[in-house]
Amino acid sequence: MKQIKITSSATVYSNLDELSTEDQTLMNKAIEARGNAYAPYSKFHVGAALLLDNGEIVLGNNQENAAYPSGMCAERVAIWQAGSLFPGVKIKKLAISASSTITKVDKPIGPCGACRQTLSEYEINQKEPFPVIFMGEVGEIVKTPSLLSLLPFSFDSSYL
Ligand code: THU
Repeated sequence: MKQIKITSSATVYSNLDELSTEDQTLMNKAIEARGNAYAPYSKFHVGAALLLDNGEIVLGNNQENAAYPSGMCAERVAIWQAGSLFPGVKIKKLAISASSTITKVDKPIGPCGACRQTLSEYEINQKEPFPVIFMGEVGEIVKTPSLLSLLPFSFDSSYL
């Protein structure tokens, strides 16, 4: 028997001004994208913005459905849009922002487990980590060095 330690690190910023100009611009795009979320059921609006290696910024937001499980998260809307419009183009970074019409979201909102798994496929394929920057509507902003740092023991094609 052995014990192993799983560690990961992240940087926590207290406001948008502390981010680099590029990160700020991307987060502002995520905030903008959040505004177009279709979330009549949860009232929880999420925006995602991907900066690609070719300079393109690809946006996504959550799209809900009356049959609840048929809805989709902002991050997967964004990554699949990027994969379909710009196949094979590397992702440089991802920004996520969330707000709610019923409560003030003042904590950083990280991507859900299913989105982490989906995004991991792209990070693995491009053989280069991309930082994930996430926030609520206000409050602290978290920046992780990679997607996989958010997903220890992830499942990938090497197991198949
Ligand atoms: N949601 C996202 O868009 N991304 C996440 O990572 C977590 C949850 C959406 C799904 C649903 O429309 C709403 O937020 C509430 O769960």
